[in-house]
Amino acid sequence: MRLELQTWPKIEAYLARSKGILVPLGSTEQHGPDGLLGTDHLCPEAIARRLGERDGILVAPTIQIGMSQFHLDFPGTLSLRPSTLMSVVQDYIASLARTGFERIYFINGHGGNVAPARAAFQEYYATLSMAARDADVRVRCKLRSWWDLPRVDARRKALYGAGEGFHGTPSEIALTLAAHPASIAEFERAPPASHGRNDLIEHSGDNYFEAADYRRRFPDGRVISDSARATKAAGEELLELAVEDLADDFTRFLEFA
Ligand code: NI
Repeated sequence: MRLELQTWPKIEAYLARSKGILVPLGSTEQHGPDGLLGTDHLCPEAIARRLGERDGILVAPTIQIGMSQFHLDFPGTLSLRPSTLMSVVQDYIASLARTGFERIYFINGHGGNVAPARAAFQEYYATLSMAARDADVRVRCKLRSWWDLPRVDARRKALYGAGEGFHGTPSEIALTLAAHPASIAEFERAPPASHGRNDLIEHSGDNYFEAADYRRRFPDGRVISDSARATKAAGEELLELAVEDLADDFTRFLEFA
């Protein structure tokens, strides 16, 4: 159930039976030579929409632009500043809360969004905490990145091992092949070698600096990923596992008191 395709009376009726909503959160940024710019929002969107249709769960409009400043040396990338993304997430929460939603689950597709989104949740709670003590607030927010869902995480590691890498990964490209095959059929698949200098002592968000530095380290945009191993069949399998995992996690979240 896509929110933007409903009427307000339908949303009012939905709220009478459920206070939960899924929000796909992603980015529009380079994903190496064979990954779509929209990969990080198309993946969580495909998962959320498939589950939404299957189980009658409402899915909010996708947040398509995220915090991607370190990809800005590659054409086509769009980025919000961390503070802008925090504002967008806070305003999503405040709007949904104002109209009656109490369990707001962000299904995320981009690592750079994690810190700003979590900070936005705390800004929202801080505003409540610093207001009236007797406020009756039941709103709870959750962030989960789709590749961390347990069955997905196990399967992508089994499929690709070290070739999974960290950016422009075969698992995310496989998922877009399943969700948007017509868009991908036309472009060239990348050479199979792994890409990006593996000179980071430990992979973490702290090792991404400004855009020019990123492009020097990772000339074709990928980070250690063997993206040519992505297949549509693997993507369909990962998509199904993600839908099952998200269904379980969302149900637990709705029951969380
Ligand atoms: Ni990605």
